[in-house]
Amino acid sequence: MKNVLIISSTPRVGGNSEVLCKQFAKGAQEAGHNVEMVNLRDYKLNYCIGCYACHKLGKCFQNDGMNELSEKMLNANVIVLATPVYYYCMSGQLKVFIDRLTPIYEQVKAEIYLIATMWDPDEKMMEPTIEAMRGLTRDCFEDCREMGIICASDVGGLGEINDKPDYLHLAYTMGKNC
Ligand SMILES: Cc1cc2nc3c(=O)[nH]c(=O)nc-3n(C[C@H](O)[C@H](O)[C@H](O)COP(=O)(O)O)c2cc1C
Repeated sequence: MKNVLIISSTPRVGGNSEVLCKQFAKGAQEAGHNVEMVNLRDYKLNYCIGCYACHKLGKCFQNDGMNELSEKMLNANVIVLATPVYYYCMSGQLKVFIDRLTPIYEQVKAEIYLIATMWDPDEKMMEPTIEAMRGLTRDCFEDCREMGIICASDVGGLGEINDKPDYLHLAYTMGKNC
């Protein structure tokens, strides 16, 4: 049994990326894993101010939602990062979260899945967003391996992903096989 942590960064309740996270969670639960899904919108997260106090303290000097989220990251065997595409990059919410991993990112040991949703039908326009997320997961995490990505294009309106059974199935299957 693995500890599966799903980090959803859409500010929209019922957002397309959130729906895919729930499908992943459903699959992973059915496979018998211990699954937790968190929405970054439910946490107060200040941005990193680049002071490097964490290098001396071993943790950030700021006391906010990141205390709880860091603990969850360190306990996870599987981590899913999900984002809506905002201006061909990840959401600001996810970027703030990633920057705040500075005190702990070297200790994260997990299998990684990436999920992104965008309005644009041209799949290759997803590349900058996935590459930006990989700036953390491939280039900075040390003991982690990317196991799967879902790039859902041509989904703009709230919940539009529910009309795309292929994406829903892909997310469910990835969760089931994680
Ligand atoms: C601030 C903002 C910026 C966006 N930028 C893009 C973009 O650059 N390209 C695109 O295809 N869609 C863009 N979109 C549309 C979203 O990526 C799309 O609606 C996505 O499915 C939202 O996912 P969510 O429902 O999980 O929030 C943007 C939406 C917002 C609100």
